Amino acid sequence: MLKLSKLTTAVALVMAGAGMGASVSAIAGEVEVLHFWTSGGEAKSVAELKRIMQAKGHVWKDFAVAGGGGDNAATVLKSRVVSGNPPAAAQIKGPAIQEWAYEGVLANLDSVAKAENWDALLPKVVADVMKYKGTYVAVPVNVHRVNWMWANAAVLKKAGVTGMPKTWDEFFVAADKVKKAGLIAVAHGGQNWQDFTTFESVVLGVGGTKFYNDALVKLDQKALNSDTMKKSLETLRKVKSYTDAASPGRDWNLATAMVMQEKAAFQFMGDWAKGEFLAAGKVPGKDFLCAAAPGTANAFTFNVDSFAMFKLKNTENQKAQGDLAATIMGTEFQEVFNLNKGSIPVRLNMNMAKFDDCAKLSAKDFVETAKTGGLVPSIAHNMAIRSSTEGAIKDAVSQFWNDDKISIADGVKNIAKAATTK
Ligand code: GAL
Repeated sequence: MLKLSKLTTAVALVMAGAGMGASVSAIAGEVEVLHFWTSGGEAKSVAELKRIMQAKGHVWKDFAVAGGGGDNAATVLKSRVVSGNPPAAAQIKGPAIQEWAYEGVLANLDSVAKAENWDALLPKVVADVMKYKGTYVAVPVNVHRVNWMWANAAVLKKAGVTGMPKTWDEFFVAADKVKKAGLIAVAHGGQNWQDFTTFESVVLGVGGTKFYNDALVKLDQKALNSDTMKKSLETLRKVKSYTDAASPGRDWNLATAMVMQEKAAFQFMGDWAKGEFLAAGKVPGKDFLCAAAPGTANAFTFNVDSFAMFKLKNTENQKAQGDLAATIMGTEFQEVFNLNKGSIPVRLNMNMAKFDDCAKLSAKDFVETAKTGGLVPSIAHNMAIRSSTEGAIKDAVSQFWNDDKISIADGVKNIAKAATTK
């Protein structure tokens, strides 16, 4: 759990340093929304939510905290909640929703959910994550698929790569060709959550969905210490050898830009990368290509963005908050937001006519993998396990990624040990 009380002192210091102690003036019908959508495609997407809320007469108070993957946003959120001044809504995902609800700080959204019939409009696996003890406390925005591989079509052509590689062996053959052509094979941003994103796709591709589930969802020690995990780390280290020396610290959208600018061939990233390509005017299937990461075509690592709503005192703001929840689940927002964001609507039975082929493939695979068991929660994007354990595994993976002196055997051991963190 979040142990809010223990955080108070540390947080007070952070806030004093950042000058965040001032109280927020209460404006009638104001929604303050904490999110981490600050890249080109992300900003365009969240602007649609602002537009719709303003059209309904509400005041939008933007609370953007930069930092892909949302770790910075999570830290700032804790400080605001501890000081008794939570935003109306905050981008929180997966098991963390339960952790916050347990603290008693989340609002009850059941009246909106009942009026709008959310139970019938959402896949049950998603609805369950949004509820705490049967009560809606969060509202889902979209479904992102994480196990994607993006590529620049012109770069592949120049390097003589025909078609997107389907297996890791094919991938390394293609990567060698790109390298020979004098270009970067893998555009990577060396931040721990990006290392972790690549890791989960590699584990899924090398081990398959059952192994992924055993190792990264159930945290089974046998799976974590197995030869398959060894093979996964060997593959991961090989992928890293195709990244450029300037990758450490790079933001994910700058890695996407390298693919756009024909500096690099491939990027392993969730489909928010597609939002970047689109925002830059690039055309899917022509300028850039999408395919499941090697070996993962029959699987789908899901990442459902959602907003948890916090208990508010002001009744006008409570009303605006309810409107925000209804808006997010509404068809207008679900379409326009997801067209920009690269994800697919989370609301069932939406018309997909305006969506591109990558989104259509995602929607088809989402439904199919849900039937076959290939639908798995993304560990790197907070969907699979509690946040403390996730953080420990993420660190162990990043250490391995960053230090080639760590042997494969030690990498396996360190990750398995991290998985026992409570
Ligand atoms: C993910 C999030 C996406 C996207 C990405 C990069 O965790 O679900 O919406 O914003 O991080 O920040």
